[in-house]
Amino acid sequence: MEQLSGVFITFEGIEGCGKTTQIARLAESLRQQHLPVVVTREPGGCAISDKIRAILLDADNSAITPETELLLYAAARAQHISEVIRPALQQGKIVLCDRFCDATIAYQGCGRNLDITTIKELNNYACQKITPQLTLVLDIDVNTGLTRARSRNAKSQLQNEDRFEAESLNFHQRIRDAYLDLSYKEPQRIAVIDASGNQDDVHNRIYAAVVHSISTANN
Ligand code: TMP
Repeated sequence: MEQLSGVFITFEGIEGCGKTTQIARLAESLRQQHLPVVVTREPGGCAISDKIRAILLDADNSAITPETELLLYAAARAQHISEVIRPALQQGKIVLCDRFCDATIAYQGCGRNLDITTIKELNNYACQKITPQLTLVLDIDVNTGLTRARSRNAKSQLQNEDRFEAESLNFHQRIRDAYLDLSYKEPQRIAVIDASGNQDDVHNRIYAAVVHSISTANN
């Protein structure tokens, strides 16, 4: 098995759970400790995967089939692993990734009802044996999350919701349930963080979980 000296941490949750804000705050806190941090996201993280992201999220692409969607996420992931994640982990960096394989299980598996075994096989193929040490699910109720996502879009003057934000409440509830279910199945890797309420409190919860994971990785 390849030896990678870095630490790979992923962040998951429904729309509007606050991942992006919290990842930025965490990165800043870790950098203040002089730790080498790379912040990245899926789908995306490098030029080719960003092009795939644009196809996936474009509200005009309503004709994309669930199978095509799954393969595009896997393709974006394979490129991202090769270009960004593996090199950073080889250099001993802490990689903070906004969404990863669990999102495919939640959205394409439980949201779009695609076969979970096939998704896991594709995830394994795309990931080339790289898995996160720690995954933080920022948990929030669906109404609060979607209200936040919509007000964020309004502030940034986005005309349209993306293809996922436009889905029903029931779809987003299935995604939330899927993440919680994954956390019960893999409690050693997946920690659920209460993402409701004050941003400082959420940050402190995340920071504590991450410091614990980094110190475990170093021992
Ligand atoms: P973001 O809004 O958190 O940047 O994520 C982009 C969207 O892509 C989000 O609605 C979730 C979705 N997604 C999937 O459906 N499957 C995946 O594998 C990933 C990584 C994201």
